[in-house]
Amino acid sequence: MPAKQIKRIGILTAGGDSPGLNAAIRAVGKAAIGEHGWEIIGFRDGFLGLALDNFIELRKEHLSGILTVGGTVLGTSRDKVHRMMVDGREQDMTRAIVRNYRRHRLDALVCIGGGGTQKNALRLAQEGIRIVTLPKTIDNDVPMTDATIGFNTALGIATEAIDRLHSTAHSHHRIVIAEIMGHKAGWLTLGAGIAGGADVILIPEIPYDIEKIAAAIRRRAKLDAKFSIVAVAEGAKSQEDAAAFEAAERRRAKAKTPEEKGFAKLRLAELETEHAGNTLRVARQLEGLTGLEARVTILGYVQRGGTPSYGDRLLATRLGTACVDLLARGAAGVMVAAQGYGVQPVPIESVAGKLKLVPLDHPWVASARAVGTCLGD
Ligand code: F6P
Repeated sequence: MPAKQIKRIGILTAGGDSPGLNAAIRAVGKAAIGEHGWEIIGFRDGFLGLALDNFIELRKEHLSGILTVGGTVLGTSRDKVHRMMVDGREQDMTRAIVRNYRRHRLDALVCIGGGGTQKNALRLAQEGIRIVTLPKTIDNDVPMTDATIGFNTALGIATEAIDRLHSTAHSHHRIVIAEIMGHKAGWLTLGAGIAGGADVILIPEIPYDIEKIAAAIRRRAKLDAKFSIVAVAEGAKSQEDAAAFEAAERRRAKAKTPEEKGFAKLRLAELETEHAGNTLRVARQLEGLTGLEARVTILGYVQRGGTPSYGDRLLATRLGTACVDLLARGAAGVMVAAQGYGVQPVPIESVAGKLKLVPLDHPWVASARAVGTCLGD
């Protein structure tokens, strides 16, 4: 669609809140209004607002003073367009969303979010909505983009937490374990672990052997220092647990009947429940195996909160303004990806449903090993 045909666009933020979302809303809004004179409406609470027609007309005054504010002024949710809880029951809201999009005479929709958002966006693009997405998540696990909005801030917060945990660890000669977010991808834990000088880093991509971790800590206590810092991703798993998860995943993939699929899903849910609280289990096991005291600090939402770093403000502003420029030049069905110093549109279907995990031969992994960090394997 040529530039002059765009008059009105919609915008929403979806998935977990992330530092830099407001910087992205501001960038899209200011460029849309200031450069092109487009109207822009913001839907509240992610795709839920689009389905229920809960919106706000965004004017210049709404876009001022939000660059440094954490969270998202539009609100967010993890709702799926085809399975949304509305009026107390799960409903497919795809039709309602398309209706609202048309009723507002929107020419395009900008969705800022992570993996779940890309999947929702693809579904809506297939229904004829002209959609462009921006990648956001502290997990940094969206494919085809060098970075996602929020990762840089969370990396800084988690690194600072590890720095601060060193005080108690060395003063009390303890094992101090920091649990860092990331169920599937270990970018945040690996990055913060390296930057904060953690002695042990456990990520989902590298299943661990608790005996090997204990041996590394005992060796360190004998030769170097009596304390150790362990950075553990939420989704880090022992080799036995990882094998059980893989078997259940295989069973789900191979399931032929709905019944078989149901059983496999149930097994996965059981495993998830058993895995909850794994970091505390690691602490108990390490105490038993090393004779040292262990303490756990779960960083939780502290990692997602507060002022975005300059890196995230810059990334959000680059991606947000490029998004408007791409829309003006006719883009549709793409995610705006950061690649090197530039920005590239990539098809949403090539990122939706995919995860960018830490490759085992990634330079960060090699560097961590080279400075003597135990990765649990
Ligand atoms: O996707 C970002 C993230 O912060 C993950 O690191 C974390 O596992 C998850 O969200 C937590 O989600 P919620 O806030 O919905 O519990």
